[in-house]
Amino acid sequence: MIRMSRVIISAINLTKYFPVQRGFLERLISRKLEYIRAVDGVDLEIKEEETFALVGETGCGKTTTGRLLVRLLEPTGGDIFFRGIRITHIKGEELRKLRRHLQIIFQDPYASLNPRMKIGDAIGHPLEIHDIAKGREKRQIVLEMLEKVGLTPAERYYELYPHQLSGGERQRVVISRAMILKPDFIVADEPISMIDVSLRAKILELMVDLKKEFHVTYLFITHDLATAKYISDRIAVMYLGKIVELATTDELFSNPLHPYVKALISAIPRPGPKAERERLLLRGEIPSPINPPSGCRLHPRCPFKIRICSKEEPKLLEKERGHYVACHLY
Ligand SMILES: Nc1ncnc2c1ncn2[C@@H]1O[C@H](COP(=O)(O)OP(=O)(O)OP(=O)(O)O)[C@@H](O)[C@H]1O
Ligand SMILES: [Mg+2]
Repeated sequence: MIRMSRVIISAINLTKYFPVQRGFLERLISRKLEYIRAVDGVDLEIKEEETFALVGETGCGKTTTGRLLVRLLEPTGGDIFFRGIRITHIKGEELRKLRRHLQIIFQDPYASLNPRMKIGDAIGHPLEIHDIAKGREKRQIVLEMLEKVGLTPAERYYELYPHQLSGGERQRVVISRAMILKPDFIVADEPISMIDVSLRAKILELMVDLKKEFHVTYLFITHDLATAKYISDRIAVMYLGKIVELATTDELFSNPLHPYVKALISAIPRPGPKAERERLLLRGEIPSPINPPSGCRLHPRCPFKIRICSKEEPKLLEKERGHYVACHLY
């Protein structure tokens, strides 16, 4: 059976610039307003029921992109579509209704839960906000969810407070809260990075199981390519506010094109003889997103740069079927 994969969320030329906060003296010296170009022209299409990973080093704009897509942040420019409908600037009641379909799981399960709210009430809260269930009906739905995420006996966990749970258990609660509305799209922002290493695989497995059951689409944000490889169908790699390469997971690992992506992949520790592990090293540090380099943002660090790289910004173009890269070498 051939299933046509429909696009669920898309972004066109999405940007988010944050004004740089400066001290009083600095403002006296210069009146020029500067911006952090956190997300600077992102195009992407996420398909129904896929797990799409957004990968990149710290500060490259992953979280900002995720928050823009679920409309937790107002974009500076560009457009966002949900099932073909433009949602870039919707507000009020319309936005409230949309929230039911778009959810986010934050990195920090400690900060994501109200310490004074019982676990059961925290998970059931969205059901009340969206007028789906209350009272005994709500309780029943929450208990079933607790069972599903392995917090059993559910009756006991329902009554506990966040501080009585481990990090892994808390993240299960946060995942439950995101899932309880049966959303279409979930941004999972580094959902395992703050929990104990020994518990990470279990949380990933849980997310995979829940995805199958609820037919949800994930945008999975991680700085770790190995995690992305495990969980995702497709991967987009970001560098300084831009997507530099986008492909299926298999394709990206077997045939990386962008020098930045090649460097990231070559840095993943692998067993085997040294000769096979040729590492591609990039010079220097990631530049500031306030004044990103001209042309290709990687050019000051790229060992393969040619003349055009410092002058012209490469566009993200389809090099092979479904494999996009923004690099002048191709
Ligand atoms: N609310 C904000 N105000 C000002 N600057 C911000 C804000 N949020 C993010 N930034 C800046 O925007 C850039 C991108 O940040 P973002 O959090 O999206 O990166 P990230 O890829 O998620 O990084 P990390 O891996 O550290 O989570 C960074 O330079 C960050 O300092
Ligand atoms: Mg982040």
